Order: sequence, then structure tokens, then C-alpha cells
Amino acid sequence: MLIKPPSDIASSEITPPAIWKRRREFIQASAAGLGLIATGGLLTALPGPAVGGEAIPNLKPSPLSTDEPPTSFKDVSRYNNFYEFGTEKYDPSTNAQTLRTRPWTVAVDGECESPGEIGIEDILTGFTQEERIYRLRCVEAWAMVVPWVGFPLGDLLQRFKPTSKARYVAFETLHDPEQMPGQRRAVLDWPYREGLRMDEAMHPLTILATGLYGELLPNQNGAPLRLVVPWKYGFKSIKSIVRIRFTEQEPPATWNRMQPNEYGFYANVNPEVDHPRWSQKRHRVIGEGLFAGKRETLPFNGYADQVASLYSGMDLRRFF
Ligand code: MTE
Repeated sequence: MLIKPPSDIASSEITPPAIWKRRREFIQASAAGLGLIATGGLLTALPGPAVGGEAIPNLKPSPLSTDEPPTSFKDVSRYNNFYEFGTEKYDPSTNAQTLRTRPWTVAVDGECESPGEIGIEDILTGFTQEERIYRLRCVEAWAMVVPWVGFPLGDLLQRFKPTSKARYVAFETLHDPEQMPGQRRAVLDWPYREGLRMDEAMHPLTILATGLYGELLPNQNGAPLRLVVPWKYGFKSIKSIVRIRFTEQEPPATWNRMQPNEYGFYANVNPEVDHPRWSQKRHRVIGEGLFAGKRETLPFNGYADQVASLYSGMDLRRFF
């Protein structure tokens, strides 16, 4: 969610995570050696180390992947929105270490024949198709290309046998102010909630991500399990999910509830519908630097061929 315009992303080369982390460890060790961190010197502004990071074996790119160059691991894991850990872009990478992602269980209920719970280990081993790297364009008021590791949300939903009454799917993030210090303040109506229409949820481009850059998700990116819906603005992609519910009625969605005139339930990327406070015709690409200029935003974030038919006959100015 954009409260302030992004301003301070330096242009950065595409660096694999392991190399970047080693570089950071070296910088931090040097800084500690010089006493800079302890004394509140220049380097105290450095965010904390990235978390997560266990390699995931046997990965192959999904045919749905774009061949555009990915945003660097550094930017993907440090320029985040995760209000449970603070409202500034660098807060989640600094603060999200307090999130405990094992054990982790997702409850699935509502309009389905087999409600129940599924543990994260079963999710990680139970949906092991080979083509699990989804390099997808993701857009907020800025854009990134992220090599997610994930699987179609529909594969998980089918296991719980949704009934014909299931028209929507609702999602909820963990609510635990002890682990998520941002929840001690009423900046949002906690827990964070999102929802999709059933056909959107079953679309093969809608994935549950368990990793990025070939490794388990860093906490700040929504470990251990988050949604990614690449043709919708980033706020639909709810993080650290603990509950999924099939519903007959449109479920509540956090930003839509908070500011309904600014954030619609659908949140499809649409350059023709301005946000009340800014145009959505163009966006900045993270990692290209401040002087690179903005790019044209494409309808449905460039995925129109695959998803526009889901909305045929709908007035997308009304259902924005
Ligand atoms: N999920 C939760 N639980 N809390 C949040 O604050 N922010 C959303 C979305 N999911 C958010 C969330 C927004 S506004 C964006 S743009 C994306 O997460 C950012 O995902 P990223 O940090 O992995 O890029």
C-alpha cells in the first residue's frame, strides 16, 4: 500500500541472494568491528539481516513465467509492505525476525465438504509439481519482477471440496501482536484480510508462494505462505496466511474496508482508472533508479490475454 511515494531505492544490479547476503554479513561484521553499530554511528541505519533462505530443491520454471529480468533479491526482500512490522518500506526486513513460522497451520473452512487444517510441512511437500518458479510481474504504484516459488492456489482449494455455494474465497493473516508488533497499533483493522472471487482464485496465475529466488520466503515477504495475484495491485497478495474460508457473499478486504473510495474489492491493475490521489497510467520499476523514468502501466499488468475474460461484461470503473 502506498502512503508515501517511494523515494530512496538505489539502482542495483541483479545479485543472487547468497552473494548479497555474504556481502551484507561482511559489511555488518566490519561495522561491528569498528563499533559503528553499537555506538549509533553511520551504519546504524542499515536494516537487519534478511531472514528465511533455505534452498528449495528440484525447481523448474512454470510456462507462465515472464522472461523479463527479475528485480534483485536485495530489493525484493528489503522494499516491502507488511504493516504488521511497520509502515515504512524498510521496516519489515528489519523487524520481521520476530515472526515464528514453525509450526504453522492453515485452517480451511466455510462452504466446503471437507473443512480442516493443513500444516506448512504438508503444504511444502504435498504440492511438489516440478514447475514451481513463477517469475511474475507485480505492481503497486511501483513494479517488480519476482521469481516466486509456489503452486496454483486452486490445487490446495480443491482438496477441501468447495460446494456450489462457494462463490468467494476469504483469506486472513496471523493475528498475534506479540510476534507482529505493528498489530499493537490500530493502523489497520487487524487481522489483515483479503478475498477473491472463486474463478479468480482458481485461475492458474493465482499462486500460493512459499519461496522466492529458489529459497524459502524471507519473513518480510510473507513467510511461510502468501498469495500472489499478478494482475491485481499488490495489496491483494496477502501474507502469512492462517485461514482460508469459502463464502457465498463477498468477503471483507482490509484496504477496501479502510478506504473504499481508493481501493476497490477487485483491485485489477487498470491504467484507465486513476487512484483518487495519483494517476495509474505509469509506474516506476524498482531497481532501475530514480532517473530511469516511469513505464506505461498495462491493463491487468500485462496479463490481459490470460485474465481479461474473467471480467467480460463488467464495468471495471464501477468494480475497480
Ligand atoms: N499482507 C499483510 N498481511 N499485511 C500487509 O501489510 N501489504 C500488501 C501485500 N500483503 C500487506 C500484505 C501490500 S500493500 C503489498 S504491495 C504487498 O503485500 C507487498 O508484498 P512484498 O513486500 O512481498 O513486495
